[in-house]
Amino acid sequence: MDMKIGKTLGIGATLVIVVIFAFVGAIFYDVVSYTAIGSETLHPNGTEVGKALVVYDPGISGAARNAAGTISGDLQAKGYTVDLAGIRSSKAANISGYNVIVVGGPIYAGNASTSVQAYLKTLNPAQGTKVGVFATGQNPDTANDTVLLMKEAAPIPDNSTLQINAVVKVYGTDDNQKLANFVNTLLQ
Ligand SMILES: Cc1cc2nc3c(=O)[nH]c(=O)nc-3n(C[C@H](O)[C@H](O)[C@H](O)COP(=O)(O)O)c2cc1C
Repeated sequence: MDMKIGKTLGIGATLVIVVIFAFVGAIFYDVVSYTAIGSETLHPNGTEVGKALVVYDPGISGAARNAAGTISGDLQAKGYTVDLAGIRSSKAANISGYNVIVVGGPIYAGNASTSVQAYLKTLNPAQGTKVGVFATGQNPDTANDTVLLMKEAAPIPDNSTLQINAVVKVYGTDDNQKLANFVNTLLQ
């Protein structure tokens, strides 16, 4: 009888450990980003004023995908043709021809997800392109401090010449207004 309880506990503990490792591994290797291979194009109602690319790492909950959708809707309403693209999609890989490029995803342990970090590292847009970075998270501490927020959400190598025009982190219920302000700053 005791052996049976011990065996059951052992199997349970092993399962818990396996699940924890799988979860941590999934976040560390940004496994969910590999599902972000799709894209869609949103057309403005009136005359097109420019082209925008909005790239997202969806995160586990899809919160970052939702933020990307809101940003895309705002850009569309301002007259942009928007390619809303998963970070592993072919659209995300070809950045030529855009006036505006936005990229973002979740924050894990104080850092942008690894796919967003990698994307920013190689991002080399044509001169004059407006670049924005967004992040989703649960910790509001950095949200109103631009310097901290840049470090957390939009880390770029020291020798990078990339200019970032706007950065935002959303975590609460004021998301839509905050994202609308971000788009306004970006287009200034
Ligand atoms: C392991 C882990 C670490 C996280 N670390 C942070 C953090 O440092 N700062 C923060 O604001 N949010 C943090 N979050 C919250 C996520 O950024 C938040 O859930 C995100 O907006 C959506 O990501 P998700 O869709 O992958 O859950 C963390 C979440 C997880 C699971």
